[in-house]
Amino acid sequence: MESNQILRLEEITKEFPGVKALDQVHLDILRGEVHALCGENGAGKSTLMKIISGAQSFTSGRMFFEGESVQFKTTREAQDIGISMIYQEFNLIPELSVAENLFIGRVPVNQYGKVNWKKLDSDAQVLLKRVGLEISTKQLISELTIGEAQMVEIAKCLSSDAKLIIMDEPTASLTDKEIEFLFQIVDNLKNQGISIIYISHRLDEIFEITDRITVFRDGKYIATKMTSETTHDELVSMMVGKDIHDLYPERKVAVEKEATAVLRVEQANDHQKIHDVSFEVKSGEIVGIAGLLGSGNIRIGKLISGYYGGFDGQVEINGKAVQIHTPSDALEAGISCVSDDRKIEGLVLIRSVKENISLASLHRLLKKRIFSSIDKAKENQVVDHQIERLNIKVSSSDQIAGNLSGGNQQKVVFGKMLETAPQLLILNEPTRGIDIGAKAEIYQIMRELSEQGIGIILASSELPELIGMSDRALVMREGKIVKELMHEDLTQEKVLLYAAGGMKDE
Ligand SMILES: Nc1ncnc2c1ncn2[C@@H]1O[C@H](COP(=O)(O)OP(=O)(O)OP(=O)(O)O)[C@@H](O)[C@H]1O
Ligand SMILES: [Mg+2]
Repeated sequence: MESNQILRLEEITKEFPGVKALDQVHLDILRGEVHALCGENGAGKSTLMKIISGAQSFTSGRMFFEGESVQFKTTREAQDIGISMIYQEFNLIPELSVAENLFIGRVPVNQYGKVNWKKLDSDAQVLLKRVGLEISTKQLISELTIGEAQMVEIAKCLSSDAKLIIMDEPTASLTDKEIEFLFQIVDNLKNQGISIIYISHRLDEIFEITDRITVFRDGKYIATKMTSETTHDELVSMMVGKDIHDLYPERKVAVEKEATAVLRVEQANDHQKIHDVSFEVKSGEIVGIAGLLGSGNIRIGKLISGYYGGFDGQVEINGKAVQIHTPSDALEAGISCVSDDRKIEGLVLIRSVKENISLASLHRLLKKRIFSSIDKAKENQVVDHQIERLNIKVSSSDQIAGNLSGGNQQKVVFGKMLETAPQLLILNEPTRGIDIGAKAEIYQIMRELSEQGIGIILASSELPELIGMSDRALVMREGKIVKELMHEDLTQEKVLLYAAGGMKDE
């Protein structure tokens, strides 16, 4: 057993000012195994991975790699002995090309010390092929989809001869096809005797590809189990500390047949990726928008939220025509959109949680008479309310948003949009990276909001969520709505079939 062990952590503690992120945790990783690390948002998973990969130091404890005691000062030191990490939050430079990013810091040079572009390009192509990416090596990272960028990140990691690869929520922004490819890569790596630590909030994946599972809760080690000897329910109760039933809360009040339309969209068209899309969302209704990547299912919500500027077509809110050219036009009209990319569109990472939550609703926090100043007491009150309601794990509302765990950052985005008191809430991939306990909380809040008469659009690539929460779903393909499925007809098979264009609309 001992010699088969590649990594061993004993009593690792990590303290940040005001937060004990890890409290005497233990972890052992065997050669050639895929080992899941599970736990709620803020449990300390990413922090431990940053310690293992040399990005952060630990406060106390011991770490052994291949039997040797180690303590890294830089990620370079960890890489040099064979530990590589794929970050949860990307580590690529948007202004550089794919090839440049893949070989950053080790770009091939010719005998005159100039960059050997030809070799750079061909080496990059080999790597892209290994992860099944069909993009040009010359494209800038900023031009890629999030999923493509993630695959580039993975390719980059493969290029360093690692013995242990850490994958922190690698699938959070991948398409099904990309995920399938990733799982093949994981399998190959494992067959080569490479160990993988795998973090994901998607429990199905954990059961599909891992050999053993370790659970953390609130910075503490709970248990390690053989994947084949545990169950979904046992895992959830170890993570959350209680059982979760009814993930998708039942609707208590039916949507009225005659309910007014909160939103009516007529012939929305951006002449690029959205073509003459018309639909409505009734007061109190949750409408799912399904579709494959690039089908327009995410884009339609962003379009009517003013993300791309003006567009052709009409939008009505509660029967009144509104003109939307910018996100603030949309907010003013009562449309709030929770973006699918919290890092770029949702959060100001260097500002506090408080500022992030109140940002979109500052106009409502102004003191009445003194025009330009914000009512601080009121701001604190609304911010604390959201932190409590969404159970956001922060040391205080002054904590910098960028320091929060990934899932808690997503909750901050959610809180910010709820605070705008929208008529229509657009949720694009709202639970990406969110743990199962928090998911249940967010679904409950969606249900409550809908019962208060708010209209909700839910665009999600997690079909169980889309099916579990939607009163009806619109399936999009190539920028058009190809099918409407009522709740009783809403199944995974049907959604996928129409999304892929496999069935003619009757
Ligand atoms: N640089 C930092 N400064 C202060 N606190 C931090 C810092 N980094 C992490 N923390 C805190 O440490 C705790 C653990 O965070 P971590 O990112 O490890 O959680 P996680 O298990 O990866 O969660 P998630 O599933 O949401 O990604 C959180 O409470 C977080 O706010
Ligand atoms: Mg994390």
